[in-house]
Amino acid sequence: MDLSITVNGIKFPNPFLLGSGPPGTNARVIAKSFDAGWGGAVAKTVSLESSKVVNVVPRYGKLRSRNNGEVIGFENIELISDRPIEVWLEEFRQIKKDYPDHVLIASIMEEYDKGRWQELTRVVQDTGVDAFELNFSCPHGMTERKMGSEMGEHPDLTEEVTGWVTEVAKIPVWAKMTPNITNIKEPASAAVRGGANGISAINTILSVIGVNLDTLRPMPTVEGYTVPGGYSSQAVKPIALRMVSQLALSLPKETSISGIGGIETAHDVIEFILLGASTVQICTGVMLKGVKMVDELQEGLAKFMTEKGFHSVQEIVGKSLPYFSTHMELVSRMKEAKRHKAGEASRDNEWAQKDITEKTAELTSN
Ligand SMILES: Cc1cc2nc3c(=O)[nH]c(=O)nc-3n(C[C@H](O)[C@H](O)[C@H](O)COP(=O)(O)O)c2cc1C
Repeated sequence: MDLSITVNGIKFPNPFLLGSGPPGTNARVIAKSFDAGWGGAVAKTVSLESSKVVNVVPRYGKLRSRNNGEVIGFENIELISDRPIEVWLEEFRQIKKDYPDHVLIASIMEEYDKGRWQELTRVVQDTGVDAFELNFSCPHGMTERKMGSEMGEHPDLTEEVTGWVTEVAKIPVWAKMTPNITNIKEPASAAVRGGANGISAINTILSVIGVNLDTLRPMPTVEGYTVPGGYSSQAVKPIALRMVSQLALSLPKETSISGIGGIETAHDVIEFILLGASTVQICTGVMLKGVKMVDELQEGLAKFMTEKGFHSVQEIVGKSLPYFSTHMELVSRMKEAKRHKAGEASRDNEWAQKDITEKTAELTSN
């Protein structure tokens, strides 16, 4: 089954991408995932000066199901890549050389400075990557340097910085949204006004994963202290689906959407596509289950398409969007359905199905 899809002029062998994070943290892991069957990858976010990035240990925390211990929520306080840009540039070149038909998207982030953003865009573009994803959404750590979600939370900054990048970019530009805002449509529209070709949603949700009742310390605990971090995994999927559907219903038709948040199975993937995503990204799922999880994604999507008679992934994109409505309309549809049912129930054909006295009583008003 052909699972390919063309988005912003780029042909993706399938819609499954590694999300920016540990699954795309260097060329070796990206190559391994391409060999395993992933259509593309958004590499770990890079900036011009990696020496400013210092990660802490531990930096992850899990929320487990009370019933079976399965991980349903995941918090991280990880920063962007701590690897030098020169190393990344070499690896971007190498990956594109070895895997010309796979899609490599560079995630970039910089301080609020036009020169720096444009320099980063130019040097990364020269390596031959297929597209950019602008990280306006990392909710912790980077914000202290006015980076990441500090930009995504302010639509005026989102528009301005996207504009800086699109001024020099010759390849498609996606803007990655933070969910830590009231109305996702505002920063997304701002990015589109700045020239973005696509929107990626969502990054992680600000969270505190729990408190250790022995030590009284909130987690993840680093030398006794913590900061709120980003929440991901299964538990965030309904929020991500809501945001993706809102974007799909409001953005211009030509703006692509890459759906992210809690995806682990083909079932999850199909939901995101039905609500308007043309590609999907998976980060925590890969960290917990490994790159081989793509086998189930491929088989499950192909099986769904065969069973439902879809011939291309494109045909599924946004298929469930017409079924969103207003609450007022739900009420009037329900009333109408009730009236219709009542009418149907009193048709002459139905008399034989019930005892005649019962049917007579049913149709009598006193
Ligand atoms: C450990 C970790 C590191 C991450 N690092 C980045 C990053 O460098 N850049 C970025 O845009 N998103 C980053 N993310 C966010 C993910 O790409 C994704 O948007 C989010 O986790 C939700 O998807 P998921 O539930 O599939 O993980 C990271 C997530 C995790 C869990």
